[in-house]
Amino acid sequence: MQASKRPLSIAKRFLHRQGDDAPSRRSVPDASSASVAPHLESNETDIPILQVRGLSKSFAGFPAVAGVNLDAFAGRAVGLMGPNGSGKTTLINVISGVYKPSGGTVTLRGHDVAGKPSHRLCRLGLNRTFQVPHPLGDLTVGDNVAIVRSRIHEDHVIFDGDPLEFVGLAGATNYLASTLTSSEQKLLDLARALAAGPDVLLIDELGAGLSARELEEVAGLLRQLKDAGLALIIVEHLMDFLEQIVDTVVVMEAGASIFRGTLRAAIADRRVIDIYLGE
Ligand SMILES: Nc1ncnc2c1ncn2[C@@H]1O[C@H](COP(=O)(O)OP(=O)(O)OP(=O)(O)O)[C@@H](O)[C@H]1O
Ligand SMILES: [Mg+2]
Repeated sequence: MQASKRPLSIAKRFLHRQGDDAPSRRSVPDASSASVAPHLESNETDIPILQVRGLSKSFAGFPAVAGVNLDAFAGRAVGLMGPNGSGKTTLINVISGVYKPSGGTVTLRGHDVAGKPSHRLCRLGLNRTFQVPHPLGDLTVGDNVAIVRSRIHEDHVIFDGDPLEFVGLAGATNYLASTLTSSEQKLLDLARALAAGPDVLLIDELGAGLSARELEEVAGLLRQLKDAGLALIIVEHLMDFLEQIVDTVVVMEAGASIFRGTLRAAIADRRVIDIYLGE
């Protein structure tokens, strides 16, 4: 593929999927049908796809994650909040197989997957984005996605559109990934994560550094993914952004989960205010 030097500014986000197939119940709807996204039956949402129990990770005796419980459900989003250094990224890293846990369990569709490496989890339908994305800078944007697509596991695919179209980067397909802006690199990271066809997606501070308009657009994308049936875990400090997407939140402090409930309840919780939000 011919690589061009510099991406055009990414114009309008182009949300509809490619191909002639009508969106299926387990497909991301196009923009025009976003308001009539498929509804999951209650028995599907009551059983967590991902169940984390007592998960711990220590670095040289320092407990970065200490006994966290977390559930993720199809078609729902959990926000993961907490002060800097409270263990959010480490939790994502342990769940997604970057680190082996020091203790606890991670159960994906009833199977124990704790300690399995990221590439295995990716094939099993669990994928993540990175707080600081590292695209393959010497490859084109298109090849960055194509390289992931070759590892897809068809069984769990919910998003079956073109990931670059979905995130609005189709116009940059032939540019080197290294020439993207930091916002565009974040969108490319989301596209790469989607290219693997996950049904559980962990998102680490996708909103940080985006403009107000970009935040609104990205919130819309995540809502579409949720409505299509993906289970989302979203690490974020931006309350206005989270509010648009999440059903519940978990608040972490010093590696432990100290609150679980709605975002509305979290921002009124005395302990959450004291350790995180401030007055
Ligand atoms: N590989 C590592 N080795 C040693 N300590 C680590 C490692 N990764 C994380 N930590 C420590 O674990 C703690 C939790 O870090 P983590 O990055 O998970 O926090 P976070 O909640 O994601 O913070 P932020 O909101 O700033 O992204 C911090 O004290 C950090 O220094
Ligand atoms: Mg982090």
